[in-house]
Amino acid sequence: MSAEDAVLIDNIGELVTNDPTHGDGPHGVIADAALFVRDGIVAWAGRRADIPQGTDGARVDAGGGTVLPGFVDSHAHLVFAGDRAPEFAARMSGSPYAAGGIRTTVAATRSAPDDVLRARLGELVAEALRSGTTTIECKSGYGLTVADEVRSLRLAAEVTDELTFLGAHVVPEEYSGRADDYVALVVGEMLDACAPYAKWIDVFCDRGAFDGEQAREILRAGVARGLVPRVHANQLQTGDGVQVAVEFDAASADHVSHLTGSDIEALAASRTVATLLPGAEFSTRAAYPDARRLLDAGVTVALATDCNPGSSFTTSMPFCVAIAVRDMGMTPREAVWSATEGGAKALRREDVGHLRVGARADLLLLGAPSAVHLAYRPGVDLVSGVWRSGQRVHVGSAR
Ligand code: NIG
Ligand code: FE
Repeated sequence: MSAEDAVLIDNIGELVTNDPTHGDGPHGVIADAALFVRDGIVAWAGRRADIPQGTDGARVDAGGGTVLPGFVDSHAHLVFAGDRAPEFAARMSGSPYAAGGIRTTVAATRSAPDDVLRARLGELVAEALRSGTTTIECKSGYGLTVADEVRSLRLAAEVTDELTFLGAHVVPEEYSGRADDYVALVVGEMLDACAPYAKWIDVFCDRGAFDGEQAREILRAGVARGLVPRVHANQLQTGDGVQVAVEFDAASADHVSHLTGSDIEALAASRTVATLLPGAEFSTRAAYPDARRLLDAGVTVALATDCNPGSSFTTSMPFCVAIAVRDMGMTPREAVWSATEGGAKALRREDVGHLRVGARADLLLLGAPSAVHLAYRPGVDLVSGVWRSGQRVHVGSAR
């Protein structure tokens, strides 16, 4: 093993590991810390005073800043063309958000060449990385023909392994009034073509999209093809989404902004993660979900961006953390956990979202004395470095 494959990040003011064995509860926060990475994997984490022998290699001086796991953004829609700024502006002067707006982006996406979609996708992933996102999920869902859904997944596969088939995003224009015919296409030819590219299957189960029975049919077909469910549930109103997600042992129920008591009980008794997407409530001027109620009920909560041109055009996990703390009843520690390990759980990943020994060395360095500053200093770029698998992939401007 050469010293080049090793790096000691030293002089860390606060190290957030999400490792309960450090004796600080689930967040595993260590003051005056260091972290040793070898061959892309966390080899040691602890107090500076306890740095073991054999930590040879490069040394990075963290300057008293904060090191935390890279953000795991478990919900994003990154393959699209165009934007919907006029729709956003109209909402800010009182127009409501409706699922039907998706069709605007579908039209733009279908008519865009591969290179245009690829360039936008690459820019968004790079933008996310600069704010500390080291794992990102990506859905199809703006193609809604067999060829355009396959194309979306094929392009997304160039930037991530966390690929979700969302042919059931909305009923496209040409199937207006024939929703059942569209569902038949999704569970038939479209699924056949898309399943080889995807790991997950998703359905938007909500007003203006698909109902509970349609969602069940779509998820059943996906499961039969080896895909694992995740569900856009209860964003716009209460309904069947959460119950369907739990029934199918979905990895996550996403949005969950309108919940009944029995929805919360069902989530708490399941291993389905509740993924909250505060960017969507921000950009649709809707009420934020009550994270406190979910946490107090024992539900596992993730935070993600939902990056898409309609309801949440942001790649910034720090922005989501800040909203979750300010307006959703999460403590700063809880929000950081949900944006890291919570996201990993929503993707059923053990290797990311934490800095326990053996983790993939995906991490970020903040030019701030604690991770609390992510919410305390909203809108400020605090990132001074990002590492993926132990390689520095971004040098930020923060001190
Ligand atoms: O997660 N809710 C469904 N899909 C996206 C919005 C898509 C759009 O408006 O283009 C979401 O918010
Ligand atoms: Fe979404």
